[in-house]
This record gives sequence, structure tokens and C-alpha cells, in this order.
Amino acid sequence: MRASIASFLSSALLLTQQVAAAPTNTSITNETTVEDIGGGASARTLGGASIFEWTYKRWNGANYACKCAPGDLCWPNQLQWKLLNATVGGNLQVSIPPAASCYNTFQGLLGNISTYDAAKCAEAQANFPSEQWQIELPTAGLWTYFTNDTCRPTTNPTDSCTGGYFPTLYIKAKTIAHIQAGVLFAKNQNLRLVIRNTGHDFLGRSVGWGALVINTHGFKDISLTNSYRGACDYTGSAITVGAGVQAFEALKKLNSLSPPKIMVTGECATVGVAGGLVQGGGHGPLTNFYGFLADTALEFKVVTADGVLRTANAKVNPDLFWALKGGGPSAFGVIVQATYKTFNDYFSSGTTFALGPANVNGNETLWWDAIAKFHSYSNQFVDNGLYVYYEIYPGMTFRVQPVVGVNKTAAQLEAILQPLFDDWTAMGITFDKATTTYPTFYDLYNALFEIEAAGNSALTGGWTFGKTDVANNNAGIIDSFKNVLNNGAFLVGHMWNGGHGLPQSEWANSAINPRFRNVSDKLITILPLAGNAPLAEKEAAQRVLTDIVDGGLRAAGPNGAAYINEADPFQPNWQTAFWGTNYPKLLQIRQKWDPSGVFYSVSTPGTEKWEQIEYGTRLCKKL
Ligand SMILES: Cc1cc2nc3c(=O)[nH]c(=O)nc-3n(C[C@H](O)[C@H](O)[C@H](O)COP(=O)(O)OP(=O)(O)OC[C@H]3O[C@@H](n4cnc5c(N)ncnc54)[C@H](O)[C@@H]3O)c2cc1C
Ligand SMILES: *[C@@H]1O[C@H](CO)[C@@H](O)[C@H](O)[C@H]1NC(C)=O
Ligand SMILES: *[C@@H]1O[C@H](CO)[C@@H](O)[C@H](O)[C@H]1NC(C)=O
Ligand SMILES: *[C@@H]1O[C@H](CO)[C@@H](O)[C@H](O)[C@H]1NC(C)=O
Ligand SMILES: *[C@@H]1O[C@H](CO)[C@@H](O)[C@H](O)[C@H]1NC(C)=O
Ligand SMILES: *[C@@H]1O[C@H](CO)[C@@H](O)[C@H](O)[C@H]1NC(C)=O
Ligand SMILES: *[C@@H]1O[C@H](CO)[C@@H](O)[C@H](O)[C@H]1NC(C)=O
Ligand SMILES: *[C@@H]1O[C@H](CO)[C@@H](O)[C@H](O)[C@H]1NC(C)=O
Ligand SMILES: *[C@@H]1O[C@H](CO)[C@@H](O)[C@H](O)[C@H]1NC(C)=O
Repeated sequence: MRASIASFLSSALLLTQQVAAAPTNTSITNETTVEDIGGGASARTLGGASIFEWTYKRWNGANYACKCAPGDLCWPNQLQWKLLNATVGGNLQVSIPPAASCYNTFQGLLGNISTYDAAKCAEAQANFPSEQWQIELPTAGLWTYFTNDTCRPTTNPTDSCTGGYFPTLYIKAKTIAHIQAGVLFAKNQNLRLVIRNTGHDFLGRSVGWGALVINTHGFKDISLTNSYRGACDYTGSAITVGAGVQAFEALKKLNSLSPPKIMVTGECATVGVAGGLVQGGGHGPLTNFYGFLADTALEFKVVTADGVLRTANAKVNPDLFWALKGGGPSAFGVIVQATYKTFNDYFSSGTTFALGPANVNGNETLWWDAIAKFHSYSNQFVDNGLYVYYEIYPGMTFRVQPVVGVNKTAAQLEAILQPLFDDWTAMGITFDKATTTYPTFYDLYNALFEIEAAGNSALTGGWTFGKTDVANNNAGIIDSFKNVLNNGAFLVGHMWNGGHGLPQSEWANSAINPRFRNVSDKLITILPLAGNAPLAEKEAAQRVLTDIVDGGLRAAGPNGAAYINEADPFQPNWQTAFWGTNYPKLLQIRQKWDPSGVFYSVSTPGTEKWEQIEYGTRLCKKL
């Protein structure tokens, strides 16, 4: 999400202040009613290790067993929290939203806390859109819709600041033992557990109402080797990263080598490389060459749901290894360390261009025709190894920045693009383009991929088109793009094919949906909406996104797939859309490694019965 889009979003949303007064009753204290429908809460032993209890609820005519939340009888008592805090070296803290310092009182689930601090508020005001500022806050969510947009920066300290969907407490883990203690505490006390690395998540998976968070962002170790020796035949260069390492840190270190090395990361330099990215797959500008980040993984160290630290590689726990490679974030364990293949870096060229009203004489029909022509080349672009990042949003704004040609001179790259440019010229379109060659891909990455912004609120979804879809139905795809814009959303496109460079013999080594091996365009749809909009408005917008906006893309691309990390949390037929024929095996692996559901993130294997009832708050299992 670029600064350009961020400004579009903020003008669309007027998100500078808390708009609706938060209902006071969201701050649950001792009055919480625990509706006992049988089973009930049993006697507790003070400070005892393992008491597995549920809070039973009825919601929309169904019965649920819910994880323990503040105010419930089964929520741990003071002594139990004290013991946990001692076990994690005093690193247990109450979660406070990023801009709570602008409010007199933070009314969280654990009670009121005085929070006003003029200096900290000024810092929050100035830095709210900064990704890295939000990343360093232990429980912030960069996309705020799923925090319920509570406690945004305000100039009125008497405004109401409630907990929204922010978690309740967090462990700022400094050692693996802290992570193990957190997993075991959440398991034994039956608490909702959230793993939080950078907080980039589009689907709300790094926050969660009532949850205990394990923050893994402090694990910043990086080590490099030129001759990996491990459980597989690979003996080339590799990087080992701690759970908190971000792409820009790993890439900088690799670039400092002689000769410089590179690894697969996302296009966004602040996303973590050992957390959600690899567990969702992880596509980026090098995906045409080496597949997904997951395809380059050699080994993980992971804390599983029983609190045990395990190795997962091709020989040891190979089922877990396979599932961690694209099977879904926070579903099989907490990754504490990951090792990936690295590659020689090559000179690379990048081209940028854009089409606005001035390029088409203000003729919107012509503008769409130009986009249709561009899109009809998707298959040729990826067949030539190109990666293309582009945005389409209202006001006839079409930006392509950049087209990436790794190991290509400017002349080679422009030769691949020339047929498109010739077509545009023949259509009467005038345009500027710029192509630059850089000594390495790393230099191109830093120069051409723009800084992205935090603090946006929107629903996201998306779909990926198969090469067959582009070949057979490009006009239908463009109609589905028009439908996206006509319904108030916009598009971010990424052209790549996860099967282009990776040998077919390796495709099944990770849990990535096999369909991603023959695609050419992965779209994100973004529907701006304030997280504090009225509930009815939220429900209506969600239906528009799922059924109309994404529904149109799905209908236009029957050979496509959905990408779990850039998706609609309410994706229909999510099992097939995200994992295709790999789903049954993933489900078995989930049941083996996390039979009781210690981990949760929406629409990941084995979560069929889990729901966030009571308007996106309590995490419960349908009975
Ligand atoms: C601006 C932007 C650009 C993006 N660009 C790309 C892109 O180019 N390619 C791409 O593939 N994706 C991209 N993404 C999506 C990205 O893959 C996801 O947001 C990803 O989940 C982020 O992982 P994280 O660990 O950094 O973030 P977090 O939000 O902290 O975590 C995301 C999920 O992973 C889980 N998780 C985190 N750490 C661990 C761990 N150690 N063990 C177990 N579970 C863990 C969390 O519980 C959560 O479910 C982009 C996202 C944004 C916001
Ligand atoms: C809050 O709860 C009280 C008592 O349960 C109820 O009378 C009141 O209507 C509630 N207020 C809101 C805003 O829901
Ligand atoms: C909540 O319960 C505790 C212990 O049971 C009690 O000390 C406290 O006063 C109660 N708080 C409120 C707001 O009722
Ligand atoms: C945990 O212990 C530290 C250090 O003693 C303390 O500062 C912190 O407030 C404690 N956390 C909680 C939630 O009480
Ligand atoms: C918490 O703070 C709010 C806002 O200041 C106030 O209305 C409410 O009475 C407080 N609740 C308690 C239990 O102190
Ligand atoms: C979340 O926001 C909605 C309005 O969009 C509000 O009705 C609801 O009470 C909020 N819930 C929490 C837990 O903040
Ligand atoms: C706009 O462009 C379309 C497609 O090229 C063309 O058919 C139409 O005549 C143009 N409209 C105007 C007003 O020029
Ligand atoms: C780089 O491109 C040249 C052709 O321009 C090709 O011969 C060579 O194999 C490529 N190198 C890699 C690593 O792809
Ligand atoms: C990939 O899609 C193309 C275009 O439809 C098709 O020709 C080819 O057979 C497909 N390849 C595989 C491996 O499915």
C-alpha cells in the first residue's frame, strides 16, 4: 500500500478521529454473565498448572464453548498471572492501543487505566502512518480495521478509548523459553493465543479480542553460510533468521556479502521473513525464478502446541515442515527460527509508467481499453520472467511501478514491453515511461518499490488469475475490474507465476496451492471502511466485498486461487480457494500437531468450527 493510495484512503475515510462514541458496556468488568449451558466451570486450584475450562455461550441460536476471556470465571487469577510473569522474566504487560496516550482513560477489558501523556500523544500523532513505528509497538495492527479502529490519535482527551479488538496482555518474548511458557499458559488456561511479529496482517490475525499475545519481534539474529549442511541435498548458500527479522534487515546483510546474495521476500521491505509471510507462502519479485519464500525454506525451529521446541526439515518432522511452508500462519506452531536458500544477485532493470486522464484525453473507455491491452500481456510478461506491480484506483489512476526484469538490460526489458507500447500508441494513447538498470536486484528493490503506510482501515480480499483465465477471458477479467471500482473498491496487482522458474519436481514440496504454479496475476481488492463504522454498514460492506467485488473476480477466473495472506477472511470455500488439493493433508497435520486448537487464525486448516461470536469478539468453538 503506497503513500499515493494511503492519501486516497484517508480522504475517503476521514479517519483522523474516533467518530462514534464507543458504548460503555464494551468494557466488560465483573458484571459479565457466563451463561452455563451444561459442563459449566469447575472448581479452580489456585496457581494450578492445568485447568481446562470453557465459557459456554448461546449466540444466534447455536451453542458455543468459548476460550476464557477477562471477566469469565475461568480467566486466570492474579496469582496465576504473577507466576506467568515470573516465568517470562517480567516481560508480561497489559496491551495498550498505540494512541491511548492521547486519551485520559483507556477503558480496556482489565479495567480503566489513566493514559494521557502529551509528549507520547504528539509522537503518536506524528507517527501513526509510519509502518516501523507501529511495528515496534508490541500489539499494534498496521491495518486498523480489525482493531475496530479504537483509540486513533485525537486532540480531545475526553474521547472514549476502549480496547476494541486489541488483545489484552502480551509477552514480549526475549527467549525461546518465554515463547514456550506463553504457549503452555494459553493452552492450560484455555486462552485465546495470538502470535504477533510485525502486525502487517490484512486479515486481523495479529490482533484478537481478549487474547494473550506472544510477541516474537525481538528475535533478530541473522547468520549466513556459503555451504549449507542439513537434512537435504542442498549445499549452497543459506541464511538463518530469527522470528522477528524483517525483509530489509535480511536483504541488507545479504547484499553486504561479496559477491552480493539475495533471497525471496515480499515486495514490502518491512514484512517479517519468518512469521506470517512464509506460513502463507510469501510471493515477491523473485517468485518467477525461485518460487515462493516457502519453496526456499530448508529448516524451521518451531514451538508446537504442546510447548515443545522442535526441528522441522525434510527428514525431521517432515509433515510439520511441509505444512509450515504455506499451510497457513499461526496454525501449526510458533516459528522461532527459519533457514532459507539464498541466491546470487544479478543486475536488474525496472520500468515504470502510468496512465491518467491526460494520457487518454479524459476518455474513460479508452483508459479501460488500455488497461485491457496491458492485462492481455500478463502471460507473456511472466513467461519472460518479469514481475509487475500495479495499482488501479478511481479517478482514472493506473500506475505500474515497477516492472522488474532480473538479469535483464534495459534494452532486453523494453523489448519485452515494446508490443504493449506499440499497441497503446496505435490506440492514440500518449505516455511516458522510464527504464533504469541497477547493479543488483537489491538496488532496484530499494529504489523502485515505494514506502508503504500504516494506519489504513479497509476490508481486503482478492483473487489470482490462472494463465488459462487470461488466455481465454481477458475481457471478462477487465469487466470484473470495472465492477471492483464501481463498488467502491480498488485493485493492487502482482504479475508472477510460482511455477515459472521452480522445477516441477519441487512444486509439491510445500503446501502452496498447486494452482499457483500456473498463474499470471494476483490481485488484492481493497474496500475502504472505517473500523468504527456502524455494524450494519460493516456487514453490508463485507457482503459487497465477498459476493460482488471478489465474486466478480472469481467468476472471471475459474482456474484461479486465493492467497491466504492477502485475502478476504470470509473467503467462500476457503479450504479449496487457499489450498486446493493440499487441504485434506493439511487438515490431518493440523489435527496431529494442534488437536485442541491452541492456535487460531481465521480460515486456516482445522478452524471450521471456530468463530468470533458476539460481533467479532469472543473466540468460540461451535458445539
Ligand atoms: C503493505 C503490505 C505489503 C505486503 N506485500 C506482500 C508481498 O509482496 N508478498 C506477500 O506474500 N505478502 C505480502 N503482504 C502480506 C504478508 O504476507 C502478511 O501480512 C504476513 O502475514 C505478514 O507476516 P508478519 O509475520 O510480518 O506479520 P504479523 O501481522 O505479525 O503476523 C501475520 C500472521 O502470522 C502469524 N505469525 C507471525 N509470526 C509468527 C510466528 N513466528 N509463528 C507462527 N505464526 C506467526 C500471526 O499470528 C498472524 O497470523 C503484504 C502485507 C502488507 C501489509
Ligand atoms: C449497558 O448495560 C446496562 C445494564 O446491563 C443496560 O441497562 C444498558 O442499556 C446498557 N447500555 C448500552 C449502551 O448497551
Ligand atoms: C471485581 O471482583 C473483585 C474480586 O471478586 C472485587 O474485588 C472487585 O471489587 C470487583 N470489581 C467491580 C468493579 O465490581
Ligand atoms: C510483570 O512484571 C514486571 C516486572 O516486575 C512488571 O513491570 C509488570 O507490570 C508485570 N506485568 C503485569 C501484567 O503485571
Ligand atoms: C472508566 O472510565 C470511564 C471514562 O472515564 C468512566 O465513565 C467509567 O465510570 C470508569 N469505570 C470505572 C469502573 O472506573
Ligand atoms: C466495534 O465497533 C462496532 C462499530 O463498528 C461497535 O458496535 C462495537 O461495539 C465495537 N466492539 C468493540 C469490542 O469495540
Ligand atoms: C473514447 O474511446 C473509445 C475507445 O477508443 C472510442 O470508441 C470513443 O469514440 C471515444 N470517445 C470520445 C468521446 O472520443
Ligand atoms: C541471465 O541472462 C542470460 C541471457 O541474457 C542467460 O544466458 C543466463 O543464463 C541468465 N542467468 C540466470 C542466472 O538466469
Ligand atoms: C498453464 O496454462 C497454460 C495456458 O492456459 C496452458 O497452456 C498450460 O497447459 C498450463 N500448464 C499446466 C502445467 O497446467
